[in-house]
Amino acid sequence: MAIERTLSIIKPDAVAKNVIGQIYSRFENAGLKIVAAKMLHLSKEKAGGFYAEHKERPFFADLVGFMTSGPVVVQVLEGENAVALNRELMGATNPKEADAGTIRADFAESIDANAVHGSDSTTSAAREVAYFFAEDEICPR
Ligand code: TYD
Ligand code: MG
Repeated sequence: MAIERTLSIIKPDAVAKNVIGQIYSRFENAGLKIVAAKMLHLSKEKAGGFYAEHKERPFFADLVGFMTSGPVVVQVLEGENAVALNRELMGATNPKEADAGTIRADFAESIDANAVHGSDSTTSAAREVAYFFAEDEICPR
């Protein structure tokens, strides 16, 4: 397996619940390294551009509204098989369908406020990491 990078976002619902540290522990306990991180309040333009692949979907406006409703914490996770491993840690998009012990099962309330984002492929990870971080803001070790 290859060492990969993936883009993770702790969404406004999870930041408001004060569980940033608990979510970071999930990443670290699984062997992923946080190699870049920042907290920010997304603009509608920044959130809409991030989720551009969904712009024709009926939930797009609500998704952008939710993602701009409060601060988020954005991080780059690095490790073996990081893209798929992070998706496993997150659980299914709908927390009601997420496996027990996953981040979404434990911290999310609904499909539209589901605690975390994670890149779904190495291709989207490359785009999403570059969307938030310059190369000199990433600190592999
Ligand atoms: P998606 O990329 O399908 O899910 P994931 O976050 O697991 O990669 O959708 C992006 C986000 O859009 C999702 O996290 C929450 C929101 N969303 C809805 O609000 N309703 C929906 O029916 C879907 C599919 C997604
Ligand atoms: Mg997705």
